[in-house]
Amino acid sequence: MLQPQRRFRKTAIFTPQGFQQIQTAISQTDNWNPYTKSCPLEALSEQTGLSTHTLSKVHARKAGVDLRTLVRYFSAYDLTLEPSDYQSSIRHGETTERLLAAPSHGAQVTKSPPPNNGTSWGLAPDVSVFQGRTAELATLQQWVLEDRCHLIALLGMGGIGKTWLVTKLAEEVQHQFKSIVWRSFRPIARSHSPIPLSDFLDDLIRHLAPQSNPTIPEPIGAKMQQLMDILRQIPCFLVLDNVESILPAHTPQTPSRNGSTEQHPPDDETYPELLQQLAQGRHQSCVVLTSRVEPKLLLSMSGENLGIRSLPIRRLQLTEIQGMFSARASFQGTPAEWNRLVDYYGGNPLILSIVAATIQRLFAGNITEFLRQNTMVFDEIREVLDRQFERLSAIEKDVMRLLALQDTSVSFPDLRSKILPSISTIVLLEALKSLKVLSLIERTAADSGLQPLLRDYAKESFVW
Ligand SMILES: Nc1ncnc2c1ncn2[C@@H]1O[C@H](COP(=O)(O)OP(=O)(O)OP(=O)(O)O)[C@@H](O)[C@H]1O
Ligand SMILES: [Mg+2]
Repeated sequence: MLQPQRRFRKTAIFTPQGFQQIQTAISQTDNWNPYTKSCPLEALSEQTGLSTHTLSKVHARKAGVDLRTLVRYFSAYDLTLEPSDYQSSIRHGETTERLLAAPSHGAQVTKSPPPNNGTSWGLAPDVSVFQGRTAELATLQQWVLEDRCHLIALLGMGGIGKTWLVTKLAEEVQHQFKSIVWRSFRPIARSHSPIPLSDFLDDLIRHLAPQSNPTIPEPIGAKMQQLMDILRQIPCFLVLDNVESILPAHTPQTPSRNGSTEQHPPDDETYPELLQQLAQGRHQSCVVLTSRVEPKLLLSMSGENLGIRSLPIRRLQLTEIQGMFSARASFQGTPAEWNRLVDYYGGNPLILSIVAATIQRLFAGNITEFLRQNTMVFDEIREVLDRQFERLSAIEKDVMRLLALQDTSVSFPDLRSKILPSISTIVLLEALKSLKVLSLIERTAADSGLQPLLRDYAKESFVW
C-alpha cells in the first residue's frame, strides 16, 4: 500500500503591490461600492469561485493560502500573477515551481523560465498540425498540474495517437517544470533490442543533472537511487514512449488458461522495477508513458486517489480526421462516404493517414472511387495491425478470432462456451478488459464485438 507522503508546501500572501492590483481591478466592476471602497464578498465569490471564507483570509493578508488561490483570484480579473505580487511562507508544501505548475481554471500563471537545463526532446515528433483531443488534454493537465500525479499511462492500439498526445501535453506543461526529457523505447529497427536499463539510467542522469558527479555509480540499484534523488530535487516532466517495448512480451501478470501466471525468462534488466519506483517513490516529477499494451504491474496500483492514473486513448472524430486530410490535400466524398471511411478504420489517425495517402496517390483524392474498389485492408495497413497483434496473449488472440467469426456482437457466456479448452471467467474478463482498453474490441456490459477493419483483418489472419 502507498503511504500518503508528507511534503512541505509553500503558502502565499499578497504583497502590497499584488493587493493593490486586485483592488484596482475590482474597483472597475459594477459591484464596487465607491463609498465603502469595497465589494461584497458574495459578489467576489461568485466572480472567482473562491469561498467567502478564503476571500476573507486572502484580504486579511495574515495567514498564507495556497498559491493557486491567488493565481485563481488574479485570473478571474484577467490579471497575471507576478512573483512581486505575492510572498511565500512555508507550511507543509512543495517547491514554488510545482505550485506554479498548478494553475486552475485556465488561470494565467507567471511562467518559470523556459526549461533549458537538462531538457531533451529526443525523437519527439513535430505536432504543430495537431487535431482535437481537447478533453483528453484538459484531463491530463488536471492530473499533471493539479493532482500532481507521479505516473500516467496513455494506452491504446498502435497509431491511435498516444505519442502525439503526450508530445502535445509536454509542450503545454513544459514551462511548469525545470526539465523535460522525452525518450522512446521503440527500437530503431525491429531486429534491435531496446536500450539496456543501465544505459538508459545513465542517459537520464546525464540530462537531468549534467553537473552531478560524472562517475555514475555502477550497480543498477545505485543508479536508480541517484535518479530518484534527482527527480526529488528537480521537478521534471519525463515522457517514456512505447513502453510496451521494455515490458516482457507476455508479462508474468498475464494469466494462463487455468488462471496461474506464466513463467517468463528472468529479466535482470528490471525496467518494471524502474516503473514501480517512478510510480511509488517520493519525488516531485511527473512521468507520462505510452503503451500499446496494458502494463498490468502499474494498473494494479492505479486508482483515483493515488498519483498513478491511466487514460485509454480513443479514436479521432470525423471532423478531426477531415482536418488531417485537408492539411494534406483536397479530397472529395459525400458525408455518408466520409462517415463510412472513418468508421471502418475506427478513427485511427495513423491508419487513416495511410489511407489518405493511398486515395491521394491512386484515386486523385476521390473517396468514392476508393470505396468502390472494396479493397479496404491492404499491405501497409496489415503491417500496422501485425505489429499490434503480435503483442497479444494467446487468449486475447483467441477472443479476437472468435469475435471475427461472428457477424454480430457476442454475449459473454456465448464467448466463454466457444473458447476451448475452457478458461476461467476471471481470465476471460481480464482479456476482454485489456482488449477494450486498447480499443481492439467494442464492449458493452452485455456483449463484445469487433470494429469492421479489425474484423476483416482478424478474419484473414487468425481464422482457420
Ligand atoms: N491529434 C492528432 N492530430 C493530427 N494527427 C494525428 C493526431 N494524432 C495522431 N496523428 C497522426 O497519426 C499518426 C500516429 O500517431 P501516434 O504516433 O501518436 O500513434 P501511437 O498511438 O503513438 O502509435 P504507436 O503505438 O505505433 O506508437 C501520427 O504520425 C500523426 O500523423
Ligand atoms: Mg507512439
